[in-house]
Amino acid sequence: MYTQALDIHPQLATPLVATEDAHKQTHFEETINHEGKIEPRDWMPAHYRKTLVRQISQHAHSEIVGMLPEGNWISRAPSLKRKAILIAKVQDEAGHGLYLYSAAETLGTSRDQMLEALHTGRAKYSSIFNYPTLTWADVGVIGWLVDGAAIMNQIPLCRCSYGPYARAMVRICKEESFHQRQGFESLMVMMQGTPEQQAMVQDAVNRWWWKCLAMFGPPDSDSPNSEQSKRWGIKRISNDDLRQSFIDATVPQAKVLGVSLPDPDLKWNEERQHHDYGAIDWDEFWATVNGKGPCNKERLATRVKAWEDGAWVREAALVHANKQKARQSKEAA
Ligand SMILES: [Fe+2]
Ligand SMILES: [Fe+2]
Repeated sequence: MYTQALDIHPQLATPLVATEDAHKQTHFEETINHEGKIEPRDWMPAHYRKTLVRQISQHAHSEIVGMLPEGNWISRAPSLKRKAILIAKVQDEAGHGLYLYSAAETLGTSRDQMLEALHTGRAKYSSIFNYPTLTWADVGVIGWLVDGAAIMNQIPLCRCSYGPYARAMVRICKEESFHQRQGFESLMVMMQGTPEQQAMVQDAVNRWWWKCLAMFGPPDSDSPNSEQSKRWGIKRISNDDLRQSFIDATVPQAKVLGVSLPDPDLKWNEERQHHDYGAIDWDEFWATVNGKGPCNKERLATRVKAWEDGAWVREAALVHANKQKARQSKEAA
């Protein structure tokens, strides 16, 4: 994921429940302050639960919708090797979605409820997946930059205060690391190829770079509610700090690849010991978040169709489970 720090809405940032049992509240806060984990059976403030359900389900949706842009290239991968790698990666993303739906379910929200929110457009997923994959180079760039940004975002989540989320993230991050490397390696091969292949990589980098920077979410100055998430040990590093780390890590990789990053203001700042960079187009970001991106409708329609086409599988599984149950109670009688 691809979380993009949109998980906390201003109206949710109300003061902590005043009427909750003070003892439970203290225990909850002490656990978090001592870097302990909150588990499903533990008491937790309603707002903490709601924030987590929103963030984890949004993350799960992003993994599942994130399969679509790259899945589009499985049948057109340029070799058997690339096809096998891409299938493995897309399957990993499905797995990430499933771990995360399971983690969110431990908070008392059913998978059906979460999917209903996605399918009716009430739930968000990362906007990066609302852009099209125009060429094979896009697949490499998604691995290198989109998964690279995801890793930067997700590594701090391995230390999230909510146990099931943190544990899911450990495995996810290991797999994301493979995704990033396969993307970089695929681009490296293309950059050693023909001028056309090199131009294709550069074009894909140009189209994805700014969108990847926006993946970290709005600037800290526009994210007043991140503070609450930080106090709760859900968010560890601010959007701007994560974005800066990503840029600092990616600039030398672009040099190795031999591509340029499409930002004339991008340069090393000796004083800050970080790269300076240009202004992100937040209007475009918000327009895409709010449904006006090039592929929003297509992505959602594909997911809804997959859900509807799978109805017979769910029905058959339910009938089978009920039969098993009936047989077991008969045997027990
Ligand atoms: Fe993933
Ligand atoms: Fe990934």
